[in-house]
Amino acid sequence: MTMAVGQPVSRVDGPAKVTGQATYAAEFALRNLAHAALVQSDIACGRVLAIDTSAAERAPGVLGVMTHLNAPRLPYRPLEKRPPVDPKAGERLHVFQGPEVLFSGQPVGLVVALSEAQARHAASLVRVSYEPGAAITDFARAEAHEPSEPSAKSGRPGTDGRGDPDRAWARAAVQVDAVYTQPREQHDPIEPHATIARWEGEELTLYDKSQWVGNVRNEIAHVFGIEPDRIRVISPFVGGAFGSALRTWPHVTMAALAARLVDRPVRLELTRRQLYQLVGFRPRTVQRVALGAARDGRLEAIIQEATAETSVYEEYTENTLVPPAMSYSCPNLRTSYRLVPLHSSTPCAMRAPGLITGNLALEMAMDELAVSLGIDPVELRLKNFAERDEKKGLPWSSNALRDCYRMGAERFGWDRRRAEPGGMKHGRDLIGWGMATAVYPAERSPAEASAQVFANGTALVRSASSDMGPGTYTSMTQIAADALGLPIDRVRFELGDTRLPTAPVHGGSITLASVGNAVHATCTELRQKIRDMAGDGATGPDEAPDYAAILRQHGLEQLEVHGKSAPGDEQKTHSSFGFGACFVEVRIDPDLMTVRVPRMVGVYDAGRVVNPKTAHSQCIGGMVGALGMALSEEVEWDRRLGRPMNANLAEYLVPVNADIGELDVTFAPSEDKIFNPLGVKGVAELGSCGVVPAIANAVWHATGRRIRELPITPERLLMG
Ligand code: MOS
Repeated sequence: MTMAVGQPVSRVDGPAKVTGQATYAAEFALRNLAHAALVQSDIACGRVLAIDTSAAERAPGVLGVMTHLNAPRLPYRPLEKRPPVDPKAGERLHVFQGPEVLFSGQPVGLVVALSEAQARHAASLVRVSYEPGAAITDFARAEAHEPSEPSAKSGRPGTDGRGDPDRAWARAAVQVDAVYTQPREQHDPIEPHATIARWEGEELTLYDKSQWVGNVRNEIAHVFGIEPDRIRVISPFVGGAFGSALRTWPHVTMAALAARLVDRPVRLELTRRQLYQLVGFRPRTVQRVALGAARDGRLEAIIQEATAETSVYEEYTENTLVPPAMSYSCPNLRTSYRLVPLHSSTPCAMRAPGLITGNLALEMAMDELAVSLGIDPVELRLKNFAERDEKKGLPWSSNALRDCYRMGAERFGWDRRRAEPGGMKHGRDLIGWGMATAVYPAERSPAEASAQVFANGTALVRSASSDMGPGTYTSMTQIAADALGLPIDRVRFELGDTRLPTAPVHGGSITLASVGNAVHATCTELRQKIRDMAGDGATGPDEAPDYAAILRQHGLEQLEVHGKSAPGDEQKTHSSFGFGACFVEVRIDPDLMTVRVPRMVGVYDAGRVVNPKTAHSQCIGGMVGALGMALSEEVEWDRRLGRPMNANLAEYLVPVNADIGELDVTFAPSEDKIFNPLGVKGVAELGSCGVVPAIANAVWHATGRRIRELPITPERLLMG
């Protein structure tokens, strides 16, 4: 039998999705389901003075109204250990616990009605008066301060480095010193965040859009002060998330409060506009990068200083400064991270959080350095290749970055590039070629799984993981099928339910290395158990056991095992990263300065590729998202009112089909058996890193203009 791992298997959940059979959080049809709608603050900072709910209470279909005046006091017990998806310092928003307003759009009331339209109409009738405070809504680097102790301790931000970077930079033969700005960006998944809450006595069931059902259960247990085993969270399908469904946002608490208020199941679905205020976003980040190099191109100093926005009540920080610390060999380094707290909701992880941001500034600066040195950008990177992780002082568990550069350059035809800007044309259009390195950490967490075989010869494998799109259902089915020795159509994989064995967060591109290895270990154990039952020699070592026959012989309907896997010492002895190289062609109209991207080439070292089809999909998806980041995405922020102005899909510009040219994705041969038994490294977020600076660098090559503020819009190019 051919092995399923390594085959381009189509998504096992594809038919359910395209025929509408897949049930998303808001779609569970519960009996007596009522609907909630929110009343939100108009001001960014201050206090609620009075709320008049009388008109709302009399409106058709209304079942109940809640504000801080009648909401129960919730314990909001502190978590013993903060989940990795929460900010490291500060305190989450407490809903309806008092009159304070911390950001525009903060929920100050909620209406439950028989229908969603009735609830939204009634919510519009609630009258709120405020005492405004002094709101901080304008991002100014001058106001930035260092992250507090708890944030700094987690090892992410703060000030870090090696050697004597300032002296080395001052003495360097060739210097770059520039500021790069990335605006606030919004996830905008097609499926809005939604929760259905149902209480049965003290038992709470939540149908939720989540990348981590275990975290939702734990957090809501702490908020309400109830035991986690009283809560069940169900989330079988996620319609896009990219990090927005990692945390447990306040609407989950509000759905549970609303269901208690009216004593029936309640659905709370956020509107598109509410997504911009009530789930997080990629924080605006301004970075200074100073590079110093010798004439031969060897880096002598890297200084990278990031300043990012957060809320006034939480300190959200990112891994922004990982790339400057490990991408290249350099003896002198300083990185620093500063925060600007605003009266805004808290930012959150968004696809390749921090890494993509730190990488784009570093890689744009590297391109500027290459130009100053008169060295080819690929050559400059090869000259500074890091033989080991100089931040951790550890060898790589695997690193095929040099293959990525070589294969990418070949596929792209990089050797035909003319170095000087504006030197390549197609008709009237300016052509530019740019490239950049991609890096993304490979991480692995403990995970559990169960595997069960039945007398009809089929298997069921389960773990409380998630599949927001990378193809978890499919890759786990492949891994399980191979480990059991069954064809994939006899194996079913289930996820997204807290009743299933514990899985870590479905984020950070860790799922395959974490849950994949747990599934592999568990299925291998089940296969061995069946072989043992059959006795010596009944099945050859490479032969799949006849599960049905062996179960029958023993008079069993089914047999189930629970297993797990966890990382070992390799995280102390080695540094694990995914790597890649991106090459991009832009075509620019010389009068209108509209940037088109006819082709992108990405070559990635993602370890072993379990499913070339879904891995390819993730990379082209990451490229498309990053193209949006480079050329169009930006939350337009009203500095006076502290609100997004373009909180809709018409004005928040994301790429459409017509914006996308040829996307060429290849994986460098790689298998990381030091990192984990399956040899995988994680694909998702790696695929989006590298694209933004490659586009920016190609724009420079086409026009001779350095646009250091994203997105690279025609107006910026015309003004630049
Ligand atoms: Mo991803 S931002 O780790 O969901």
